[in-house]
Amino acid sequence: MIRIVPMKRAHLRACNDITAVSEPWRTLKESVELRRYIALKQAYVCINGGRIAGFLVFTPEAVFARGGYLRAIAVAPDFRREGIGKSMMSFAEAKTALRSQHFYLCVSSFNRSAQSFYKSIGYRRVGRLPDLLQPGVSEFIYWKRLTQR
Ligand SMILES: CC(C)(COP(=O)(O)OP(=O)(O)OC[C@H]1O[C@@H](n2cnc3c(N)ncnc32)[C@H](O)[C@@H]1OP(=O)(O)O)[C@@H](O)C(=O)NCCC(=O)NCCS
Repeated sequence: MIRIVPMKRAHLRACNDITAVSEPWRTLKESVELRRYIALKQAYVCINGGRIAGFLVFTPEAVFARGGYLRAIAVAPDFRREGIGKSMMSFAEAKTALRSQHFYLCVSSFNRSAQSFYKSIGYRRVGRLPDLLQPGVSEFIYWKRLTQR
């Protein structure tokens, strides 16, 4: 049984540990500004058996083309392929659907497993931002319609 709850400062170390071993941040040598998103109330953790199994950060308001935006999602390596990522995305989509008709995200071109993940839950690749973060690396824009026309 998992619980998804607002991220607190006490969760920061566990979340930063997940980021340190996960793409795309490992390759890009970047981290997620979790303190900022805690303050904005846009960050959540997933708790499984008392352990932090993953986290996600998203903006439910329509910030681009009538849609909310997923800023980050990661599942701890020990908990992957158990449906936790999918559950966290359902949580984000449900909250976003209250305010926006669409949901967008970016994924790095080298992050093939994340691309498979997003495709498996109904996202379509609709754009490409070449060399955005590093030369030779594109950011693909993925999109899902949340509400019926
Ligand atoms: C991407 C990520 C969040 C997926 O989380 P997860 O909990 O492992 O995903 P789920 O178990 O919910 O997977 C749902 C489906 O997505 C697809 N999928 C997930 N991981 C996949 C992988 N590594 N390769 C291929 N397909 C994958 C599968 O179809 C899977 O269903 P199945 O396990 O029944 O075959 C996780 O791999 C992760 O944290 N990766 C590192 C961080 C990252 O890349 N974040 C995205 C940045 S844009």
